[in-house]
Amino acid sequence: MKIIEVSDYEDMSAQAASYFIHKIRNLPTITLGLATGGTPKGMYMNMIEDHRLHQTCYQNVTTFNLDEYIGLDDGSNHSYRTFMNDTLFQHLNIQLSNTHFPAEEEQIEASEFNSYDQFIKIHGGIDVQLLGIGENGHIGFNEPGASFQSRTRIVQLTDSTRQNNARYFENLDSVPTHAITMGIETIMNSKEIVLLASGSAKKAALSKLLEGEITEAFPASVLHTHPCVTVFADKAALV
Ligand code: GLP
Repeated sequence: MKIIEVSDYEDMSAQAASYFIHKIRNLPTITLGLATGGTPKGMYMNMIEDHRLHQTCYQNVTTFNLDEYIGLDDGSNHSYRTFMNDTLFQHLNIQLSNTHFPAEEEQIEASEFNSYDQFIKIHGGIDVQLLGIGENGHIGFNEPGASFQSRTRIVQLTDSTRQNNARYFENLDSVPTHAITMGIETIMNSKEIVLLASGSAKKAALSKLLEGEITEAFPASVLHTHPCVTVFADKAALV
């Protein structure tokens, strides 16, 4: 696991964006695994700015998002699909039909394959998977205790995750209790993984990750067994 120490959120966002842009330019048909949340937002803004200034091409880029809430109204502005459309996709020349979410069953059925994992596989797998980290060590919505062999499935969110994510909703009661998430094995099948961590709220999770004990009680620890992981972490998140 390679750790890149950056000074702050802006620096992390700029460096991580450059890292991805370089890969997209070298492999215009790249398949990316994407994440939501506050952490990658700045990186997405940098990618948009680069696209505006340098016309980096997304025409043949395919994306698979990590997770999606279950039980929101159709078109809810809290869905991760809405987040990604508003925050990134509509500002690039990406084809929306090349952007995929685990809850969009019709895409999975249309593919004649019966699971998101197989759907990813027939697209040749994920070249680079972007991850954030939950304060409890979750990746995607794989909460502590999730099996390292897990595949894309519906999961129940922990109270702490619902409380943390309540900042994006009107109140705690509006936060869904369930989500559909890529499994840990789904994530680990990516050829490369990039994890972003910024701010003191992530300090405890990051220090546990860097300690190195590999345990299902701390999902992100599985990343130590992947051959190609880069972590961009800012000073506030590092001990
Ligand atoms: C959410 C998402 C994760 C994300 C994490 C951290 O629950 N499912 O994919 O990494 O929370 O979010 P944030 O970046 O807002 O701290």
